[in-house]
Amino acid sequence: MIVPNKIFILGNWKMKPATRNEAIAVARKIEPGNTKNTQGVIIPPAIFLGAIQQLAPSTFSYGTQDIYWEEEGSCNAEISPTQAKTTGCDYAIIGHSSRRALGETDESVNKKILACIKHDIIPIVCIGESKRDEQGQYISFLRNQISASFDGMSKADFEHIIIAYEPLWAIGSEATREATPAEAEEVRILIEKTIDEMTGHIPVGQITIVYGGSVDTAEQLTDFLNIGMKGVLVGRASIEPKKFNALLTAASSRTI
Ligand code: PGA
Repeated sequence: MIVPNKIFILGNWKMKPATRNEAIAVARKIEPGNTKNTQGVIIPPAIFLGAIQQLAPSTFSYGTQDIYWEEEGSCNAEISPTQAKTTGCDYAIIGHSSRRALGETDESVNKKILACIKHDIIPIVCIGESKRDEQGQYISFLRNQISASFDGMSKADFEHIIIAYEPLWAIGSEATREATPAEAEEVRILIEKTIDEMTGHIPVGQITIVYGGSVDTAEQLTDFLNIGMKGVLVGRASIEPKKFNALLTAASSRTI
């Protein structure tokens, strides 16, 4: 279950850095922050996980960048929920746009979320539109993505789920810009409304929603916390210890 009233600083290392030694160097420089109100999570390439866990502050939690829904089988390169859990992963990113680009569907995202919940792993479920259009079609796209990804889930399930709003146009080195707080707030409200309709009443603020996409400063973090986000999913800046530590420090000095 998600510990309430914590600010999530989630570091999604993606397929970086290039070498094990560089990964170790990054892990050595990450500082713990104030763990009373902040939860730092490191989500490195799975192959570096063991080395990093020994070096990063013990207050951090860990995650995998994907998970498979089956427990066993001839599934090259997949990571089962039990394998992840017993390796110290309490979190798993599900449905990142880079996985969706390689064929991940809302249906497979749905199965992976359920597998995570069953194995006491908190899924960080990424949703996001590829572009904004003046006619507002991105709203119906997001609604459909939310309905299909969380199909069949109960109110209680959302106590174990983090949703990351990651507009594709704001992510990674191709990003045109980060979302404005107003754009992110509109989607936070949309997520809350859609899930409220799907499950019966969930009071506003009870679903854990974070923002991701070109976040690398304390000011951005503050802006997103101010519009009701419970933290940030950080890509590029998460392997730059100075920037990641600054986000942890900023989170530590406030509450939500
Ligand atoms: P970015 O990536 O912070 O580098 O934009 C975020 C993500 O893809 O999770």
